Amino acid sequence: MRPLRLACQPIKTGLRRYAPICWLRPLGMVVKVGINRARESAAKMKALVFNGPRDIRYESFADPELRSANSAILKVESCSICGSDLHMYHGAHIGKTEYGADSLKFCTGHEFIGEVVEAGGDVHGFKVGDKVLAAGGTGCGTCSFCMTGRASECAVSTAFGIGPVLQGGQAEYVCVPNADDTLHSTEGLTTEQALLLTDGMATAYFGLTRADPQPGGNVAIVGLGPIGLIGVELAFLLGASQVIAIDPVASRREMAEKLGATTFAPGPDLQAQVLEATGGKGAQSVFEASGAKGAINAVLPLTARRGTASFVGIPEPDDALPLPLIMFKNITVRGGICDVTNMWPHLVPLVQSGRMKANALFSHNFDLSDGAEAYRLFDSRDEGVLKLRIDVN
Ligand SMILES: NC(=O)c1ccc[n+]([C@@H]2O[C@H](COP(=O)([O-])OP(=O)(O)OC[C@H]3O[C@@H](n4cnc5c(N)ncnc54)[C@H](O)[C@@H]3O)[C@@H](O)[C@H]2O)c1
Ligand SMILES: [Zn+2]
Ligand SMILES: [Zn+2]
Repeated sequence: MRPLRLACQPIKTGLRRYAPICWLRPLGMVVKVGINRARESAAKMKALVFNGPRDIRYESFADPELRSANSAILKVESCSICGSDLHMYHGAHIGKTEYGADSLKFCTGHEFIGEVVEAGGDVHGFKVGDKVLAAGGTGCGTCSFCMTGRASECAVSTAFGIGPVLQGGQAEYVCVPNADDTLHSTEGLTTEQALLLTDGMATAYFGLTRADPQPGGNVAIVGLGPIGLIGVELAFLLGASQVIAIDPVASRREMAEKLGATTFAPGPDLQAQVLEATGGKGAQSVFEASGAKGAINAVLPLTARRGTASFVGIPEPDDALPLPLIMFKNITVRGGICDVTNMWPHLVPLVQSGRMKANALFSHNFDLSDGAEAYRLFDSRDEGVLKLRIDVN
């Protein structure tokens, strides 16, 4: 929408690139606020703050304020770490943003649930006291993309907590713009189910379905972090007769086997192993859920002729796919950023009805004050370490 573009001005974020820093509802507009008295006394909250690669600190950070009339402020109850947080933790890239020691500080985290403690006058679907989960990112809420469930294509779309444009929710409080579209009630959901619905489960459904799985067909999943493992369960739920699951970590492969998958470790024999397991044809639907170079490069050789490969792992800027393989095997290739809210109508009923279990994905619990250790452990991918729940007490 033209007014949006005019209102947006690129500003230097300190992340070595320019990023949009506006929301459709301009920051200056009058906001009607339902103030929660408990928040008035605290000028500064505690949060996990990005201080540079491998340097996440639990420290004081300015309390968030309503940034527009369509925003809400949440008192965060629980949050978790996503594989995407590791890209900035490693000083790598998310899109064009490069994370270095000279980056501006910001609150991390785009997977969080909590209670609404303030709501702007244009928030109609939620009120103070409501328990909610938030999508991992949001858009303006009113452009044609946002209105059709494609917020990831919105001109001002961004995830929470990947830069100072939109502070994250690994914090005591977080401001959620475009609240009506970005929040969902947690009623009927456990804390862990709600956390998974903020991003990981939605991304698994998004990436898997874009690999065109067929009832009775076979699916290969490359990368068995939380997203890939959820993908294994979803693939069977959607009717796959065979799921091949690939990851270097033995405990992650064991979890996939418990769900019924055939597993392999990556390595020089992988293509031959997958061909043998699929009668020489390869996998019809391949879902890449890793982002590691080795995983990305493994996908097309495993994909059957006329198969579909779907990528959600965040690549580095120089990652590329070999066009001749795509061409001569007639492979359909898809990649994309998940529109989380668009997945909820499919997933929330599956979870609430008990059809989608996503059991045993959370391996450890932390308090927010131990967030730095939570990051270190999640990054280690040690045997037995998977999804981490961080509670904000
Ligand atoms: N596109 C989106 O909308 C979206 C949303 C959320 C997350 N992501 C991305 O999804 C990816 C997965 O995230 P996650 O939260 O599941 O955790 P994660 O990053 O820990 O999972 C990655 C997994 O890949 C495995 N791996 C490493 N090298 C491999 C190889 N050569 N072959 C196979 N597997 C290999 C790791 O052992 C790990 O289990 C990340 O890149 C994350 O940024 C994308
Ligand atoms: Zn994420
Ligand atoms: Zn928009």
